[in-house]
Amino acid sequence: MKSVFALAFAVLLLAAPAFAGRRLVQAEESAQVASTQYSSIPEFAADQPNFSTFELALNLTGLIDSVSDSDVAVTVFAPTNAAFNNFLAAQKLSLEDLLDSDYLMPVLLNHIVPEVLTTSQMYIGEELPTLLTGTNLTIAAATPNSNAVYKILSENPDSTANIIPSAHNIVAGSSLIQAIDAVLVPTMPAIEAFVQKTNEITAA
Ligand SMILES: *[C@@H]1O[C@H](CO)[C@@H](O)[C@H](O)[C@H]1NC(C)=O
Ligand SMILES: *[C@@H]1O[C@H](CO)[C@@H](O)[C@H](O)[C@H]1NC(C)=O
Ligand SMILES: *[C@@H]1O[C@H](CO)[C@@H](O)[C@H](O)[C@H]1NC(C)=O
Repeated sequence: MKSVFALAFAVLLLAAPAFAGRRLVQAEESAQVASTQYSSIPEFAADQPNFSTFELALNLTGLIDSVSDSDVAVTVFAPTNAAFNNFLAAQKLSLEDLLDSDYLMPVLLNHIVPEVLTTSQMYIGEELPTLLTGTNLTIAAATPNSNAVYKILSENPDSTANIIPSAHNIVAGSSLIQAIDAVLVPTMPAIEAFVQKTNEITAA
C-alpha cells in the first residue's frame, strides 16, 4: 500500500513550489485565527487527545510518514474521536474492523487536499480534489444555527461533516488542519477503484 502513497506524495512535493507564494500569505492569515501552532502534522496529532483515532489510522496506514515533513503543504480535514465513534456505530463496525480494512487508506485520503486553504479562502460550491484520485470534497453552507464554519460534502451523498469552529485553521508546519465532526466517506466505486489499483501495484 505504501508505494501508492509514496507516489501521491512525491507528486505533491513536486507541486509544492507552485503553492509557495500562497502559503506565505496563508501562514500569516492563519496565525491570527489559531492559538496553537504545530511544526508538523504528527506533532499536532500527538498533542491533541481528541484526534487519537485519526492519529492511530494515520500511523497504521503509514500515511503519517508521508505527512511528517514540515514542508508538506496540505489541508487535512481531521475527524475527531467522536466523529469516528459515530461512524463506527452507524456502520456497526468495531474500531479493529476499520483499522484492519482495505478501505481505511482510501477513506483517509478522502480527507486530505493537496492545497493549503484557510476557511476564509473557501467558498460555497468550491470543489477540492482530494488525494483519493478522482474524488472531490465540496464546500457548502453551514447548517443554519449549527455554529459550524462550513459544511463539507463528500461525493457520497450520505456523508457530510461540519468544520468545528473551535478547531479550524490550525497550523501544522506548512499545512492546515480543519477539524470536522464526521468521517467523510467516499463513494463505494471510488474506494473499490483504489483498492483494485493498489492490489495491481502490489502484485506487479
Ligand atoms: C476535545 O475534547 C475536550 C474534552 O473532552 C472538549 O471539551 C473539546 O470540545 C474537544 N474539542 C474538539 C475539537 O472536539
Ligand atoms: C503513532 O505513532 C507515534 C510514533 O511512533 C506514537 O508516538 C503515537 O503514540 C502513535 N499514536 C497512536 C494513537 O497510536
Ligand atoms: C472535481 O473538481 C474539479 C475541479 O472543480 C472538476 O474539474 C472535476 O470535474 C470534479 N470531479 C468530480 C468527480 O466531480
